[in-house]
Amino acid sequence: VKSVSVGLLGLGTVGSGVVKIIKNHQDKLMHQIGCPVEIKKVAVRDLSKKRDVILPRAVLTTHVEEVINDPDIDVVIEVMGGIEETRQHILQALKNGKHVVTANKDLMALYGTELLSVASEHGCDLFYEASVAGGIPILRSLVDGLASDRITKMMGIVNGTTNYILTKMSKFNRPYEEVLAEAQALGYAESDPSSDVEGLDAARKMAILARLGFSMHIDLQDVYVKGITGITEEDLNYSKRLGYTMKLIGIAHRDGDKVEVSVQPTLLPETHPLASVNDEYNAVYVYGEAVGETMFYGPGAGSLPTATSVVSDLVAVMKNMRLGVNGRSAVTPQYDKCLKDDSE
Ligand code: NAP
Ligand code: HSE
Repeated sequence: VKSVSVGLLGLGTVGSGVVKIIKNHQDKLMHQIGCPVEIKKVAVRDLSKKRDVILPRAVLTTHVEEVINDPDIDVVIEVMGGIEETRQHILQALKNGKHVVTANKDLMALYGTELLSVASEHGCDLFYEASVAGGIPILRSLVDGLASDRITKMMGIVNGTTNYILTKMSKFNRPYEEVLAEAQALGYAESDPSSDVEGLDAARKMAILARLGFSMHIDLQDVYVKGITGITEEDLNYSKRLGYTMKLIGIAHRDGDKVEVSVQPTLLPETHPLASVNDEYNAVYVYGEAVGETMFYGPGAGSLPTATSVVSDLVAVMKNMRLGVNGRSAVTPQYDKCLKDDSE
């Protein structure tokens, strides 16, 4: 049986998790897609870095082009991060006819519409489940699971790093710098953690959720953002004494054609379901007119949880390849050109 050939861009926290899952779950993947998965090439920055996954030396390269232009590679998995250069790499991979899986919310929030449209033009899938809420399959739940409903509100904790920081500061009175360093060491934080603590990472995720949930284009500039850098241990102690818990909460609300999206530190009563979501865990509350209240909970960051979403996207791509329905990305928002093309 021919194997599916995968090229990886990045072998850090998420990339190593992807390699581990592909290796350790080969039997499950074989069962799902009917052929083995081969990791053909992996692009990294530093060939001499010690890794916690073992790959043949010849598989590693510092040249992204060797992955995206390799005619034998069917699927490119982008887990290296970055925006402008990475956008060019993904555009090139799609133009080369490769399906793409990415965990990159920065890129999808800023250029998702363009990239999905190029994917569709070239008959390629572009999946990005891991870009929001790590291991929680929230994008497919919105687009497939709640496809028949009209979603009017989403609210949640969508950044693991800040939730980890607020949890440790509030429960154990630990200093901000110390717990931020711990979140970085555990692989939860972005390479530049200011996007976590200043709320931008959560804002990007809320923009992606709002686009998919409300089927409307939401501009990132229209999302109100306030991070946790101004929160002190005193603030947290004082709110605890009053029976409240501080969380970085994203809210997206739709009323007819009017949509409001925001991210800001919020005091929740201790009895609120989101108040007990701790550490790097995320939760997304979704309200649909017909279904009522639903809540999705799970690890929002970290190697294996995030890689689970990435490899599940890979399985979705491979199932599409087998069925010959490439280019019908399940997570393309309805406002996007691709879906209009599909329905014509
Ligand atoms: P990371 O640990 O910093 O890993 C980045 C990897 O990409 C490293 O292997 C690095 O190579 C490689 N890389 C970076 N720039 C490169 C370049 N120009 N050319 C070739 N290789 C390059 O990052 P991560 O935490 O895995 O995150 C990766 C992506 O997933 C980001 O978009 C992030 O936002 C997203 N994400 C992360 C998480 C999480 O929990 N960490 C969760 C969801 C989504 P070296 O190893 O040689 O330095
Ligand atoms: N830095 C992100 C977070 C990684 O802490 O939530 C997961 O997207």
